[in-house]
Amino acid sequence: MVEFRLPFFGHGGDYNPDQWLDRPDVLEQDIEYMKEAGITLVSVGIFAWAALEPEEGKYNFSWLKDILDKLHAAGVSALLATPSGARPAWMSVKYPEVLRVNNGVRNHHGNRHNHCLTSPVYRDFVTKMNTRLAEEFGTHPAVVGWHISNEYGGDCKCELCQEAFRGWLKNRYKTLDNINKAWWTAFWAKTYTDWNQIRSPEDIGESAICGMNLDWKRFVSDQTRDFFRNEIAPIRKITPDLPVSINTMTLFNGLDYSSFKDDVDFFGFDAYPMWGGKSDYDVAIETALTYDQVRGYGNRVWSLMECTPSQVNWQDICRMKHTGLHPLVSLQAVAHGSDTVMMFQWRKGRGAAEKFHGAVVGHDSTNKTRVFKEVKQVGEMLKTIRPVVNAETHAEVAVIFDQQTRWALSYAQGPRKKKDYTGVVKEHYEALYKMGLNVDVIDCDKPFDGYKVLAAPYLYMVRKGMKEKLEAYVQNGGTLVVGFFSGLVDESDLCFMDGAPGPIRELCGVWAEETDALYDHQRNSFVMEKENELGLAGEYACSWMCDVLNLEGAKAVAHYGSDYYKGTPAVTVNKYHKGKTYYVASRAEQKFYDDFYKALIKQAGVQPLIEDVPDGVLAQKRVKNGREYLFVMNFSREERTIRVPEGCDLLSGEKTTGEITLNENGAAVIEIA
Ligand code: GLA
Ligand code: ZN
Repeated sequence: MVEFRLPFFGHGGDYNPDQWLDRPDVLEQDIEYMKEAGITLVSVGIFAWAALEPEEGKYNFSWLKDILDKLHAAGVSALLATPSGARPAWMSVKYPEVLRVNNGVRNHHGNRHNHCLTSPVYRDFVTKMNTRLAEEFGTHPAVVGWHISNEYGGDCKCELCQEAFRGWLKNRYKTLDNINKAWWTAFWAKTYTDWNQIRSPEDIGESAICGMNLDWKRFVSDQTRDFFRNEIAPIRKITPDLPVSINTMTLFNGLDYSSFKDDVDFFGFDAYPMWGGKSDYDVAIETALTYDQVRGYGNRVWSLMECTPSQVNWQDICRMKHTGLHPLVSLQAVAHGSDTVMMFQWRKGRGAAEKFHGAVVGHDSTNKTRVFKEVKQVGEMLKTIRPVVNAETHAEVAVIFDQQTRWALSYAQGPRKKKDYTGVVKEHYEALYKMGLNVDVIDCDKPFDGYKVLAAPYLYMVRKGMKEKLEAYVQNGGTLVVGFFSGLVDESDLCFMDGAPGPIRELCGVWAEETDALYDHQRNSFVMEKENELGLAGEYACSWMCDVLNLEGAKAVAHYGSDYYKGTPAVTVNKYHKGKTYYVASRAEQKFYDDFYKALIKQAGVQPLIEDVPDGVLAQKRVKNGREYLFVMNFSREERTIRVPEGCDLLSGEKTTGEITLNENGAAVIEIA
């Protein structure tokens, strides 16, 4: 691993000079404007293959050298991109195997992200290109790291990929008999008697084997990683000191990003929240979950690699960020562990699909815009908070977001069609975050020890080893919260035969005998037991799914308010050695999670970063060399007064003595005394 450690915050974004090679005046202006806006880092060459290799074997690097020289002279560093996200037409036409196949039909040349993950021909082209790029620019003083490809995603179902899938399966299952068992193929006469009978799931073929669907996802993720490893092989050899990154996508369902953690030096993240629909506060909470998730992939500092300074061009309605929002949300990314604020894009192109996508510089070619000024403000802010760069994030609470579980759950037919894995996870996360806590978002393969509270909403899949890991966690004093519809299947998506929640039944002290599903408009309720140990009272609405529980050692904290299971336990607690496990048997209204976690946090002895966080305000902390930096951000659109520890606000330069007032879109970064 090579550490990504810049002595400053990266500020910049996707820069596409290759679209402007016939306009030296524009390129000159770019550099001037970058200096003015406090740009320190850009990603270059992301989709530049046609400019880098206009004809097979004929490379043209002079323009890139020129640009890198100019950037360097202007004090701007660069992440050098590999261009594999889109290939030149000559390649697709001469070597059609580089293109993807779906339902037996090979795509034509076009768009981007349209390459086969397996094709040796494509991999070879990529190797040659990346070798040349590394040789040409590996020691260029502007280059501080690699931006590998762009937003890896999608799959290919060509015969090469089918063969690779079978190879992957042979490696995982060894025998056909094992596959037939794991996939439950006696169902609908699906038994395989020869490896060659196995194909990927397809619209025109198989889609009813949940275990196969899940394995295909795993395979695609692994094959993408394999493709990535092929990309970086020459890079690691030629430029062993340059860190390597991929830009991941918000809540992307196609890849298991954390499985890249040992190959990627730092994770990039592209964030395009729908600002302007719901309240800023709501969107900021949703966004924070994704930031904490990307930090969790690698357990380290990450990089906001893309966001728009103004609006995107692909949402149904592309609202502009209102004045003051871009600096505030940029700071939020930093608060959650990003060491960069990078945008898509530096300058709007004149044509093609993204000409109306927001950019720092628009078609008016001026620096006199509202957007430019706000970007410049971010540049200044990042300079001001420079002491925070490279600081770490520590959390005492964690929420499990497990990609494999999300996949498996999405293939489960019943007990309701919509599962909303991300929505349910977010409700638990929201309660913790709003309270003023650093929250880790981790998958089931991450260590659990060290957390005082661990939330496991929708723990549908319990893979091998997890029972022991969860038991050890609680045994040693941890507080575990398990959500409804948990402990149903193993890693092959085969149901457990000993009653839900399967292997964690003893740990939870309950048996979920049935799971009722509710129509969207229907509600049940949690009626809190008198004198429950959390001190909660009254009733909370619940919906979605209702597990009907039998107590097996656990105690009821709340019971259902209606339906045929009225009066039966709906929230339970089970003491287990030094710790305890809560089971929340239905999807509650947010108010329940807020109150529930508040009580739990107190019980577990976790201290929020600030007391009584006012509505609309969010807090985070980063630490470095024993120094603590408390971020307080006002997303309420009104003035807010907040009690804070003594210290110095890096943004205003003023001492804080117990209380600060933040204006609309205001924030403070307090170095705690
Ligand atoms: C993605 C891509 C960019 C660009 C933006 C537009 O994140 O990586 O190339 O298309 O979306 O929002
Ligand atoms: Zn393929």
